[in-house]
Amino acid sequence: MSRLWGGRFASAQDPHFLSFQNSLGFDRRLWREDIAGSAAWARALEGAGVLSKGEREKLERALDELGRELARDAHAFDGAPDEDVHSFVERKLGERVGDLAKKLHTGRSRNDQVATDLKLWLKGALYRLDANCTELMAALVALAERSVDVALPGYTHLQRAQPISAAHHALAYVEMLARDRERLADACDRLDACPLGSGALAGTAWPIDRAKLADDLGFTRGPTRNSLDAVADRDHAIEAVFAATLVCTHLSRLAEDWIFFATQEAGFLELSEDVSTGSSLMPQKKNPDALELVRGKCGRVLGHLVGLVTTLKGLPLAYDKDLQEDKEALFDALDTAAACLAVTALAVRGARWRAERCAAAAASSYQNSTDLADLLVAAGVPFRSAHERAGAAVRRALELGCELEALPAAERARLVPELAALDLARELSTARVLARRAVVGGTAPSAVRAELKRWNKELALHAAQAPVTTPR
Ligand code: ARG
Repeated sequence: MSRLWGGRFASAQDPHFLSFQNSLGFDRRLWREDIAGSAAWARALEGAGVLSKGEREKLERALDELGRELARDAHAFDGAPDEDVHSFVERKLGERVGDLAKKLHTGRSRNDQVATDLKLWLKGALYRLDANCTELMAALVALAERSVDVALPGYTHLQRAQPISAAHHALAYVEMLARDRERLADACDRLDACPLGSGALAGTAWPIDRAKLADDLGFTRGPTRNSLDAVADRDHAIEAVFAATLVCTHLSRLAEDWIFFATQEAGFLELSEDVSTGSSLMPQKKNPDALELVRGKCGRVLGHLVGLVTTLKGLPLAYDKDLQEDKEALFDALDTAAACLAVTALAVRGARWRAERCAAAAASSYQNSTDLADLLVAAGVPFRSAHERAGAAVRRALELGCELEALPAAERARLVPELAALDLARELSTARVLARRAVVGGTAPSAVRAELKRWNKELALHAAQAPVTTPR
């Protein structure tokens, strides 16, 4: 067992406790950030007169070599005796530069070290999640491009309400993902202050130029301004997991919509075989497992959010070991969200509308009755009365088992005499019902095409632009 704190102890720790508190199994993921932070700390120590130029150079070279070794060797951590990634890096450094490695931790604590590592890691992870969101947005926009003229029943209360364009449905999720991207960028911006130099809790006693150190590590907001907060703060982890939870919530709603669309009962959508599975017993089955897992995993990510906030809520300042519990939740939440985004993009790319089933369903169930009322309004009837009259027409059509536009002439003359001159079959057709909703944000093909143009432009701009957040 390699410990960084053995001096004041006369006896060893219980092996069960040591394995209980060991975090190397999961915080090893921070090795790149730990090495980058350590190299920057070495430069800061040189600036403070703690290390000579030669010592700093030697440490930097060894850290660089260690980084290359770890990148090369997938088994570098196997059987390592260290309690965490920080102890691991320091021991490996010692194997290269001997006692000089023992100088590196001057004025630094694992508390400000892990806080810094985690923020550096998060910047990369949020950047990658942002790229996953953009990829799914592009897949949904491409689906929308081929769906403008596919009509679907639109639902409220899961009852057929008014017809919509299938492209409009796809673009609704693009809107959600665009907000998700803003949230990721926002979380990334707010976390961008450097905790290193805060020491264990009170600030380091060495004359470290923290502004320069923050700049060196790429933190755009400079150094954190309160050492107690800096080592105790995990807002960024919570915000990132919250942003991931909302991403997954959106994906889960899409999954729920599409699982329904793909049922035999609805029959609107055919999912590709590459994201479906069969049954070990029932030979005919084709199940939407990919989407079901997306929906299921959303619960797991939300669980991490609740767990993380619960861990934080009772913690006294400053650092407490409880904070070590942040990592598995954070890593798994962001990994899971990224995987859900990628699999959803696969499902979207392979999906095919069953346009005839969609059209038949969109034209059914009196989804054009609002338009019948609107036609009466255009003929001078106040809307409340028009609503009442259209409702009566629906009731009569239900009794006769026909659609509104198929009501016999005598019934029409009795129920809606103001519309005698109109071609109701045309005026109440799905195409007309859709085309009327040409307001900004409406489902008319003209409005949807305008949004598609905007999204295509935005995605092209994004592809050409510098990233919103810093890549690693
Ligand atoms: N493994 C610890 C964590 O993840 C690192 C910090 C430990 N600090 C300490 N004083 N024990 O939080």
